[in-house]
Amino acid sequence: MIQPAPDRDARVGEPPGHRDRPSGHVVVPGALDLTHNVILYLEDISVSFDGFRALNRLSLAIDAGELRAIIGPNGAGKTTMMDVITGKTRPDEGKAFFGQTLDLTRLTEPQIAHAGIGRKFQKPTVFEHHTVFENLELALKADKRVRRTLFARLADDERDRIAAVLARVRLAAEADRLAGLLSHGQKQWLEIAMLLVQEPRLLLLDEPVAGMTDEETERTAELFVSLAGTHSLVVVEHDMSFVAALGGKVTVLHEGAVLAEGDLATVQADERVIEVYLGR
Ligand SMILES: Nc1ncnc2c1ncn2[C@@H]1O[C@H](COP(=O)(O)OP(=O)(O)OP(=O)(O)O)[C@@H](O)[C@H]1O
Ligand SMILES: [Mg+2]
Repeated sequence: MIQPAPDRDARVGEPPGHRDRPSGHVVVPGALDLTHNVILYLEDISVSFDGFRALNRLSLAIDAGELRAIIGPNGAGKTTMMDVITGKTRPDEGKAFFGQTLDLTRLTEPQIAHAGIGRKFQKPTVFEHHTVFENLELALKADKRVRRTLFARLADDERDRIAAVLARVRLAAEADRLAGLLSHGQKQWLEIAMLLVQEPRLLLLDEPVAGMTDEETERTAELFVSLAGTHSLVVVEHDMSFVAALGGKVTVLHEGAVLAEGDLATVQADERVIEVYLGR
């Protein structure tokens, strides 16, 4: 069973004795504490659905600026792990921290997004009847850190921010096109751009290159490599040539736990990994 959040209105960054204020005063501190250079820390996370353990004491640490690939067979728990990190699913047990101090198991989904974790689901969800630029404008205005109305005009620095992100995802030439007219790969990039304008510290990407052409897949790998360092990225993907192009550490999930971790060549040579993939 998924337990409801034990204390959904817990204030973050305050000692426990200070949780007795009325709700509505929820504050997520802006500064992320990266003292030990770890941006995401999961320890012994378990999630059960009707007695089935989708995550089984999963532990994982992602360094600040890291580009981590997560692979594993269907049903391994990869998406469920992202659900836990983003607050969509509450773990039955275990710890989940963003930086040193933000306890993700005590934050709501909007608070987690606000704290700097952006997530991209597999299917692109862009506004097809708006232009590429307007999509980014809407994403920027949805950023709760900025107090504004939907009708307020963009400030110059916000236009610059959008332009920089458009260039980064190679959609600058498409700014005035309707999003619905983009290729599947371009829609995926637009959705990544919509995350980027909100300046997340950690990006979670679930099967970002599914359905892309080989060229789009290569460009996506280049984009993620370029984002690493200034961002931390956790990328779930089945496409091994894409994972190889990312060039970072790879974590193999199986039956809700980490089976192996290391560079791609090392995990691919691991007997247990081969067994899981070949079903022997
Ligand atoms: N809401 C839910 N209710 C019941 N079972 C669920 C739920 N979400 C996930 N599961 C089960 O948990 C297991 C892990 O699912 P999950 O979607 O995390 O796997 P995955 O590694 O992302 O797989 P895929 O590669 O196919 O996307 C699966 O057996 C799935 O059926
Ligand atoms: Mg999945």
